[in-house]
Parts: sequence; structure tokens; C-alpha cells
Amino acid sequence: MTNMQEYVVQTEQLTKQYGDFTAVNHLDMEVEQGEIFGFLGPNGAGKTTTVLMLMGLSVPSSGTAKVGGHDIIEESREVRSVASILPEYSSLYGDLTTFENLDYLGQLNDMPREERENRIHDVLEIVGMSEWLDAKYESFSRGMKQRVGIASTMMKNPKVVFLDEPTLGLDPVGTREIRELILDLKNRQGLTVVMTSHILSEVQLTCDRIGIINRGRLVLKETMANLNHVMTGAEDRRVDFKLTKVTPELVKDIEAINGVKEVKQENGRLYVYGTDDTDIHVSQTIVEHGSTILLMKPREYTLEEIFMKYYQQEAD
Ligand SMILES: Nc1ncnc2c1ncn2[C@@H]1O[C@H](COP(=O)(O)OP(=O)(O)OP(=O)(O)O)[C@@H](O)[C@H]1O
Ligand SMILES: [Mg+2]
Repeated sequence: MTNMQEYVVQTEQLTKQYGDFTAVNHLDMEVEQGEIFGFLGPNGAGKTTTVLMLMGLSVPSSGTAKVGGHDIIEESREVRSVASILPEYSSLYGDLTTFENLDYLGQLNDMPREERENRIHDVLEIVGMSEWLDAKYESFSRGMKQRVGIASTMMKNPKVVFLDEPTLGLDPVGTREIRELILDLKNRQGLTVVMTSHILSEVQLTCDRIGIINRGRLVLKETMANLNHVMTGAEDRRVDFKLTKVTPELVKDIEAINGVKEVKQENGRLYVYGTDDTDIHVSQTIVEHGSTILLMKPREYTLEEIFMKYYQQEAD
């Protein structure tokens, strides 16, 4: 995408230093209108620091960013009117009810009473917490707290929401519910969502694109759809075969094919490492040896593997 206007978030060499320590290091990252962007990284990578800067809550040491078209340094008030955050640690009050918490937020955003009440009704509907209007926040399970938290981010009707580790500490059911809610925010509310995570499978199921940050540096930006593609096209591309029979002669002939780097036999399968233009020659060779292909598929990498690969590269 070349049209700058369509980026909801665009960082420019965004940097945060604490003394000599660089928590966020010259970050260049864009988030497109209406997408779910996954901001991934291990503990201490710089995710929360970045999100706080993007909300205008922490001042960059150098570089800058635009959120909803507003500069995070020069126009931090405007940024906070178009963006909201679900912080890593809840900022809602335990001894207040759902209504009281949301009403208070509405007041902070200068919303008139009637508008506040309508909005509270709407946001609780979105997160499926309408029946819990008068219950105290502290009485909720972690999953319910996250729902109310997400409702609170919607009070000001933002363009973009930053969800910092929204599924942290949730059980599989709670995780799935929040994941579905996040997809809803995008698909039904038309929101742009930036979520941070170190839980890879979460991001794989919800995000359109991801950025991986490691020790303050962005090590990868990729669409979810492209990610496996990038990896399977890499030098360690592997195709798994299941055959009716494998003979040493067959293995030898496959190894001799131009472009095939290695052939391994494991668990009754044949793993052929090589470029994708060898596939046809490999299958022809198999047939010529009187064997039949029961299964043939390029190996797919899990995000975990991709993640580790990039982390290790950085560490080297
Ligand atoms: N106020 C601060 N003063 C000094 N160092 C800080 C401060 N805030 C964060 N850091 C350091 O900056 C680095 C990045 O922290 P940050 O909280 O952004 O990481 P994160 O990716 O959100 O990690 P996590 O997954 O644990 O939430 C860490 O090494 C952290 O110790
Ligand atoms: Mg964090």
C-alpha cells in the first residue's frame, strides 16, 4: 500500500531509551485501516513500551509516529481521542460496578449523561456483558474482566484500539471468546486492532499481519497469509512423502535429482529437501520405481518455529 493516508498507525524510527538501555530501537511499522495487527515478541521485547508511546502516554527518546493521522508527540490529546488502550494491567476499579466504571470513563471523555448511558448499553452489548451492569468489577472472572476492559476501550468510539496481551492468563475457553470478540471488533465494528502477544497460536488465528519485535528491534513484518509461504520457499524447504514402498535404489535416484539437497527416511515417510521445481522429477522417479504416492505435502511451519528462527537469528 502506497497511500500514507490509509495507515492508522505509522511509526518513524520510533525509539525509547531508559538511560543506556534501548527498549525500543528505531521502529518502523505500519498498521492499515481495518486490520488486526499482531505485535509479537518475548517478555521484555518492547511491546508495552511501544504501545504506551503510540497512545501518547510515554514520550519517545527519538523518532515519532502518527496515530489516526495525529503526531503522538505534538498532538497527544488528539491521539487519545481516536485511540484507546486495554492496558497490560487493568485500570478499572474493583469496588465499582460495570456501570460505574464505564460511566466514569464517559465523564473523563466529556460525554453528556444521555450519550454515556446509550454508549454503555452499546458497548456492553458488543462484549456480551449487558446482564452484569450492576455487578462489581472485582467479582468477575478474568475473562469477564477482559470483556469489561474491552468495553471500556470502546466508550470513546475509537478508530483504533491497542490491546496489550488481551488473552494473558485466560483459560482456553476464555481465550477463544476473547479471540472471537476481537474478530468481531474488526468485522462488525470496523475497528482497527493492534494486539500484543507472546502466545503465537492466538495471533495466528486472529491477525491479518504481524510484526515481531525482539530486544527493541522489529525483526519481521509479514502478512499472516504470506508467512508460511515465505518459510516454505526458504532454503530448507521440505516435502513429505508417504509411499507404498521405498527401496535404497529409489532413495539414491531421488538424491541424484538436480535441486534435491537431501533425502531422509523417518517414521515410514520420506522427507525430500530441495527447491520446488524438483517436485515433478521426484514424483516421476517414484512412479518409475513402481511405488505409489499415498501422500505428498510441503511441510508447513508453525508460527512457533518461525518465531524461534527469527529470535535465534537475532541472537547469533
Ligand atoms: N520505566 C522503565 N524504566 C526502565 N526500564 C524499563 C521501563 N519500562 C520498561 N523497561 C524495560 O524495557 C524493556 C521492554 O519492556 P516492555 O514492558 O515494553 O516489554 P514487553 O514486550 O511489553 O514485555 P512483556 O511481554 O513482559 O509484557 C524491558 O527490558 C523493561 O525492563
Ligand atoms: Mg508488556
